Amino acid sequence: TGLRQWWTRRSASPMYDFAADPAQPKPELYRELAAAAEALTAGESDAVANMANVAALIWQLVPELNWAGFYRAIDGGLVLGPFCGKPACIRIAFGQGVCGAAAASGESQRVAAVNAFSGHIACDAASRSELVVPVKRGGQVIAVIDLDAPREGWFDADDQAGIEALARILAGRI
Ligand code: SME
Repeated sequence: TGLRQWWTRRSASPMYDFAADPAQPKPELYRELAAAAEALTAGESDAVANMANVAALIWQLVPELNWAGFYRAIDGGLVLGPFCGKPACIRIAFGQGVCGAAAASGESQRVAAVNAFSGHIACDAASRSELVVPVKRGGQVIAVIDLDAPREGWFDADDQAGIEALARILAGRI
């Protein structure tokens, strides 16, 4: 199938070929993602390196994304971090857009139709749905993980739970 071909291409990696199966149940996919992120970031203290590898892992393992990456909370605003996808908005105020809403509230934002989300920031015109999960350390939002997909309603509760688990792993590593 087209999806399988896409997936095979997407999974091709010289070092970390997880050979994910697109028919795999999502909770399993996210367990694999968490284990890979855990292994890749263990013992590495450089936040940029860890965010870069985790953005690449998400891109590799989660199907049908057009953007995946990080915004970091710096001086009361969000600043673009490592990501995969098209170049994106660099600075986002807390409370602005989907990312800013997640950062300001400390709550994950799962938006089925970004065009209907008041204040959505269209970095990539292809985006139709979005999942943003805050990464917290000591009760403070230190970053958000942002996933965009070119289809409406792409993210479900399993995606949210999976990325939230990832955020907990990363809390001490970025
Ligand atoms: N759409 C986001 C902005 C970031 S990009 O999608 C990469 C938002 O509304 O916060």
